[in-house]
Amino acid sequence: MDNIKKLMEMVLPVDWMFSLLPVGASTQSIDVDPLFHFVYWFSIVVFMFVIIPMTWFCFRYRRRSEGQRALTQKDHNQLLEVTWSVGPLIFMAIFFVWGFYGFLNLYLPPLESKELKVIGQKWMWTVQYPDEEISVSGQGVVIGVPLGKPIRLLMSSQDVIHSFFVPNFRVKQDVVPGKYSTLWFESNKIGEFPVFCTEFCGDQHSAMLAKIKVMSPDDYKKWVTEQKEKDQGLPPVKLGEKLYHNKGCNACHSVDGSRVIGPTFKGLWGKSEQLTDGKSVTVDAERIHQKLMEPTKDVTAGYVPVMPSFKGQLSEIEISGIVEFIKSLK
Ligand code: CUA
Repeated sequence: MDNIKKLMEMVLPVDWMFSLLPVGASTQSIDVDPLFHFVYWFSIVVFMFVIIPMTWFCFRYRRRSEGQRALTQKDHNQLLEVTWSVGPLIFMAIFFVWGFYGFLNLYLPPLESKELKVIGQKWMWTVQYPDEEISVSGQGVVIGVPLGKPIRLLMSSQDVIHSFFVPNFRVKQDVVPGKYSTLWFESNKIGEFPVFCTEFCGDQHSAMLAKIKVMSPDDYKKWVTEQKEKDQGLPPVKLGEKLYHNKGCNACHSVDGSRVIGPTFKGLWGKSEQLTDGKSVTVDAERIHQKLMEPTKDVTAGYVPVMPSFKGQLSEIEISGIVEFIKSLK
């Protein structure tokens, strides 16, 4: 329910409800929007041209009595046929050339683009900034970008197919395991713009949200510094608690004792768990470490092996934070 509410707030801000498209916030929207409106209004006009006469003809030339025969039969009209063939052809050619030009622009990032690496996984996005040496991650993660700078995303998936969609930027691209896909945009408005996963990827697909925060170059610099400082000096339990939310652990593990997809964290520490192969294991730092790295090995009896691996995504400091957080939930 919470997810749906969050989603509604993002999809239907009041200013979107009365326009056909969400507010455009990228250079691509300047290309895409006029074409969209052109095709849209063209379709409405054509629809009217077909539907209104058709409705009128149905009424005007209806059968008026039993066994009524047609008095005349027209089977050819040169002018009419040329008009309805050439007219649409001209419009189709316009759509094609205009669309092709926009397509090239959508898929060819400028050379001076700044590259960010995006990793999709069940059910969150991780974005790495190679130049700044930071990374952000988690459900609802805020992805900071500087205004007016072309950004190229190099995207890959850890598990299944996801899709990175930013309605305000008019860009969307599938993220497929085992290959890289790219997407680029240049934002031209300061603000926060929602990102959706648009490929059904499992249980928490609708919660796989993020926000792109477009900032002035100065604010962007400040944001980067904040990201660098953020986790330093946080006590381990607090760090673990933060990761519990940011890394999406909360999607499957409760902290109040209720059973979700995986075992609850409450009272988990020190517990003896039965594995699917009949052996048993005590939940200690070793076990938690192993579950984070190789989650599908040694699964607890009664659960399905659906947990994603966090190999290469958590530092030892972070893992120890998670351990301390679980330990604290007596
Ligand atoms: Cu990821 Cu839907």
